[in-house]
Amino acid sequence: MAEETATVEECVNTEIKGETWEVIQYLAMALKADNEGKTEVAQTLRSIAMDEAAHGSRFKYLAGNIGDLKSEVEKMLAGEEQAYEGKHEGMKTAESGGQKEMASWFDTAAHDEARHAAMLRNLLERYF
Ligand SMILES: [Fe+2]
Ligand SMILES: [Fe+2]
Repeated sequence: MAEETATVEECVNTEIKGETWEVIQYLAMALKADNEGKTEVAQTLRSIAMDEAAHGSRFKYLAGNIGDLKSEVEKMLAGEEQAYEGKHEGMKTAESGGQKEMASWFDTAAHDEARHAAMLRNLLERYF
């Protein structure tokens, strides 16, 4: 049986998934390096993470995955609002599980999501 070759779309989707994972992986490694006092290691890992973000985002853009900007901003706004709720729930779960540091991070990140939502609302009012 002939080996099936992937379509460009499949290759691009594989790249987007891989690059997305790499961004988080490198940034998490950088946090560990920071914690161990290895500042230059952390900086290098962060630099690589930004390259991976650039790779993934341009693949997504070139694949035509970004539609009308207003609709995309609205979609992201709904996502940020949901992310706030989800992290708030996560905070409560972590609290009742006795994981104080995790609960605290859920709380901080939840507030970030609320701030992101406010920023997107502001863009919608001013530019769209
Ligand atoms: Fe990459
Ligand atoms: Fe967010």
